[in-house]
Amino acid sequence: MCGIFGCIMKDGKVAPTIHAALKRLEYRGYDSVGEATIDDGKLYVKKDTGKIDEVHERCNLDDLPGRIGIGHTRWATHGAPFQVNAHPHFGCSDPPRIAVVHNGIIENFAELRKELEDAGHLFRSKTDTEVIPHLIEEMLNSRQFAATVNIDSEFINATIAAIGRLQGSYALAIVSTMDPGRIVCARNESPLVLGIADDALYFASDVTAFLPLTNKVIFVENGEFVVLGEDLLEIRRLADGNPISRKTKLVDWSPGMAEKQGYPHFMLKEIHEQPRCLRNTLRLQNKYLGLLPTFLDRAREVIMVACGTSYHACLAASYMFSKLSFLATYPVIASEFAEQHGKSVNIDSTILAVSQSGETADTLSAVETARQRAATILGLTNVVGSTLTRISRVYIGQQSGPEIGVAATKTFTSQLSVLSQLAIQLAKRRGKISQEEIDLLEEKIENIPDIVEGIIETQEEKMRALARKYKTKQSFFFLGRGISYATALEGSLKLMEIAYIPSLAFPAGESKHGPISLITQGFPVIFVCPPDETRRTVVGNIMEMKARGASIIAICEEDDEDIKKLVDDYVEIKRGIPGVLSPIPYVVPLQLFAYYMAIERGCDPDMPRNLAKSVTVK
Ligand code: M6R
Repeated sequence: MCGIFGCIMKDGKVAPTIHAALKRLEYRGYDSVGEATIDDGKLYVKKDTGKIDEVHERCNLDDLPGRIGIGHTRWATHGAPFQVNAHPHFGCSDPPRIAVVHNGIIENFAELRKELEDAGHLFRSKTDTEVIPHLIEEMLNSRQFAATVNIDSEFINATIAAIGRLQGSYALAIVSTMDPGRIVCARNESPLVLGIADDALYFASDVTAFLPLTNKVIFVENGEFVVLGEDLLEIRRLADGNPISRKTKLVDWSPGMAEKQGYPHFMLKEIHEQPRCLRNTLRLQNKYLGLLPTFLDRAREVIMVACGTSYHACLAASYMFSKLSFLATYPVIASEFAEQHGKSVNIDSTILAVSQSGETADTLSAVETARQRAATILGLTNVVGSTLTRISRVYIGQQSGPEIGVAATKTFTSQLSVLSQLAIQLAKRRGKISQEEIDLLEEKIENIPDIVEGIIETQEEKMRALARKYKTKQSFFFLGRGISYATALEGSLKLMEIAYIPSLAFPAGESKHGPISLITQGFPVIFVCPPDETRRTVVGNIMEMKARGASIIAICEEDDEDIKKLVDDYVEIKRGIPGVLSPIPYVVPLQLFAYYMAIERGCDPDMPRNLAKSVTVK
């Protein structure tokens, strides 16, 4: 998740306005920053790595001439946070004639890059974005475009034709010395909003960027492009260039609310972002998805190390690797790693470290222990450029965008999605499951973002109501069998950390070996029960708890009438999700439950006491 912004002003210099707006968007990404302006027919650029204040101190972001410009604050997806990968990006011409800023992921960039390199284009960066200016140049050079959008500008017609070749998600803005008075923006999936003031026009990834300047906005929809000029604002359809008329809206958000896009807390915003983040994980390049399984396949032992929520993702992944790729893997809590495996790990061991931040001290320390004994280190993280990416032999970036709420939500489901794709890739490689099963799993994984969207739409009110009903309970049990044990652990951690309710998670089969003694009349027990091989025995465990007076909440499939009849309350999940993928959708109601419990109990879910987003001490 990056942030883009730009504006055309009637008077003055845009650079300080762009700088201030990027600062307001910094929460969307903060590993590099860049600006491009046009003045007197020339393109001026500043870009570098680091947070905005650091870059400003080094190269004064306000010191660019011109009344028209674009800017970008980056969250690395393709290419590490190096200056050359910072936006804006340019084509081949020297001095540059076209500058592009982009938020999103161009899925077909590798094919486009190859095609452009074959045509003689020289690329400077490792980003997906850089294909865009080269593609526009190529369109102009080879005159491969028709004036489909009926605008009197070759540059704009070529730009729209180039955008037509992009697959994936984007909010884009492009300026060029060939048409120095206009900015072209376009949107598919990534957010884009226009701001209208008497003396300026703005575009941005969200209204936060220009809220102190105007509250008159127009939301750009998927498949649309916009041409901005002095006194010009045209919205058209990318498909055929037809104009669209859309009314201006007034937003009455405070700057704090705007940053949260109108949600009361980052945690709720991030829960709602999950469908989009999951779609991003489905755009990971095969190059990376293929490389990790190669290492996993040849390892003598695979140990997954992580803390907190990331450990729960590893635990779920151990079931995925076992069931799909027939590979035994060992999930280990990072702070225990040195004691448990410090002496046995060796050159034949492979460590898969999972860390949202890539900076968790316990995880890095476990990795260091393994590195000293010559183990191979693989990483999965949300922060490209973090320590974990620097010390891993190979890493994958999960591309969830910054997570501000201390409780991990969107990053957990994205980790699960990436790990399940790795397990499927490994299964293919090892020939362990049939092509038919692989096809089915791949089809199901594609549907998960929509299913999660449906859960949020249909079950959020129910979770709020359940939170009201159970808010006075002093403690909870979360139970699940098989892979659902990981889901239960995550539900329990969420409730504990943000609503301060002591809760225990156990494998449902283990509950009768001790924890059941806690059950008294009305003790709340949440069962995670997808319809997999464990369901029949889970029904037995529900009966055991019910017989002792527990109040049971089940997270179950929508037409599981038997379970629905047995329990006090239930939450329905759309049918047809294979058990091995079930933690992704089944955890979502538990995140919502924890959130609304925190609200009901007057706790701040974004900043739970005693916790930090990234724990950098051992
Ligand atoms: O950044 P990491 O994934 O390494 O962080 C690990 C844990 O600190 C983190 O998951 C923590 O447990 C969260 N508060 C969970 O919501």
